[in-house]
Amino acid sequence: MEEKCEVCLTNKELSVLHEIAMLISKTYDIETSLAKSLQILKNNLYLENCAIHLLEDDRLNMFASQDFTKQQQILSSFRLGEGATGLAAQSKEPVVVENVHNDILFLNKSGIRNNQTISYVAVPMQVDKDVVGVLSATLTKTTEIDFDETIRILSIISSIFGQAIHSYQLNKKEKERLNDLQQYYKMEWDSKVHNFGDIIGQCEKMESVFKVIEQIADSNVTVLVRGETGTGKELVASAIHKRSRRKEEPFVKLNCAAITDTLIESELFGHEKGAFTDAKEMRKGRFELADGGTLFLDEIGDISASAQVKLLRVLQEREFERVGGGKTIKVNVRLIAATNRNLEQMVKDGEFREDLYYRLNVIPIDLPPLRERGDDIRLLVNFFLERSMKNHKKRVTLTEDAMEQLCSYPWPGNIRELENTIERIVLIGSEEGVSAKDMLLMLPALNDQKLSQNYQSRQIGDKTLEQIEKEAIEATLQNCDNSVAEAAQKLGLSQRQIRYKMQKYEIK
Ligand SMILES: Nc1ncnc2c1ncn2[C@@H]1O[C@H](COP(=O)(O)OP(=O)(O)O)[C@@H](O)[C@H]1O
Ligand SMILES: [Mg+2]
Repeated sequence: MEEKCEVCLTNKELSVLHEIAMLISKTYDIETSLAKSLQILKNNLYLENCAIHLLEDDRLNMFASQDFTKQQQILSSFRLGEGATGLAAQSKEPVVVENVHNDILFLNKSGIRNNQTISYVAVPMQVDKDVVGVLSATLTKTTEIDFDETIRILSIISSIFGQAIHSYQLNKKEKERLNDLQQYYKMEWDSKVHNFGDIIGQCEKMESVFKVIEQIADSNVTVLVRGETGTGKELVASAIHKRSRRKEEPFVKLNCAAITDTLIESELFGHEKGAFTDAKEMRKGRFELADGGTLFLDEIGDISASAQVKLLRVLQEREFERVGGGKTIKVNVRLIAATNRNLEQMVKDGEFREDLYYRLNVIPIDLPPLRERGDDIRLLVNFFLERSMKNHKKRVTLTEDAMEQLCSYPWPGNIRELENTIERIVLIGSEEGVSAKDMLLMLPALNDQKLSQNYQSRQIGDKTLEQIEKEAIEATLQNCDNSVAEAAQKLGLSQRQIRYKMQKYEIK
């Protein structure tokens, strides 16, 4: 005999719950598993016209059902508070229509006809305090359970459905975001012209850079691009991607220096919901976003020690976990890293893992600073001048003096600085010709350079290094009352060294 009490479920109900729970946990798509679950309710408890409405923008639309035709499903859509279904969502309470034939709450918008139908039950599906939809069914003469039992079992099932639907919606949202992101990256990518024609350079060092790019672009090998700031590291990384078989896939960037140590891991590997206080939803990291394509990690020398360990593992095993998650994720990503720091020194100083260094430095590409690129400066000046004049629809000419100045300037900010300077020249300059004097306005750093050159020539003149050394020792001795020990200390020499030099320079 089946025993019944307020909180006990009948064996039948338990077996229904069990079957539904099993179904929902299977990896069917959600619509199929919900439809099958509703079928179980019909077959076992004789509940009819079971339906699930989802709340979308204050409207309840039918999402899964049995017994309804496509047309009826479309018709059966309610505003919040409309009819029994709308009321259940609005009040967050189950709503019962005892006799569907004389209660105005039962709207029967779908027009589904069943003379057997007696009553209607609608139960809200909630996740935390939020309503995600409504589960409803009608009772007929053959239904095996009464109102209270129906409400009770539908309430339990609705919380299972609610959770499943909620995860499904989150997942769907994340997929859309991912799609958007990839679209965005691709758009950003396609809007630029990428070819060697765009990487200007004819000097020997750049020729060999081009050669390496040609050779390795098509393989999946990890590349480390090195060079001072503004030397074109990112440009080279994108050129490699554009020439690889991955060119139709995303090129995803991350500047490691721009992110705090605590955030870098979640940016790289993503995080699960609740991994930390701000992690309201699951988010994919750059590695997942770049799946199939190329990941460019800029300023790789700036990543934290723990991120180094994780990065090493991805490079070795091609897998990782999101922050706060246990699921192992596999990706197919080609890595290009860049840095302007001296990684070898960092390895020596214990700031950068040696094993990671070797994993990254499979193919090193060293970009020369602009001041070592000789005639390339002239080439680049003309290239940027043409481009900028076209953009601003303005003509400007450089005098040969001005060009000379640009060519002899040391360009600490490299090509980026040159690019910006040309932009200024085109904006301020005139068609009559930009002179060397005008240049002081357009490249203010020239003033500092002139000053320091003057200063140096005034101090040092044409003296040889030995003369300077002799004068320094003499002056220091004088300042120290001819105490050799004191002078040696001030000059950073040993007493033996200073005596040797004094002898050599015949200082008494
Ligand atoms: N060889 C080159 N030819 C043309 N433009 C270049 C070249 N190298 C760099 N640039 C331009 O200079 C700017 C800085 O380059 P970027 O790749 O960002 O340098 P880095 O990453 O080394 O700081 C970019 O606008 C880039 O397009
Ligand atoms: Mg850069």
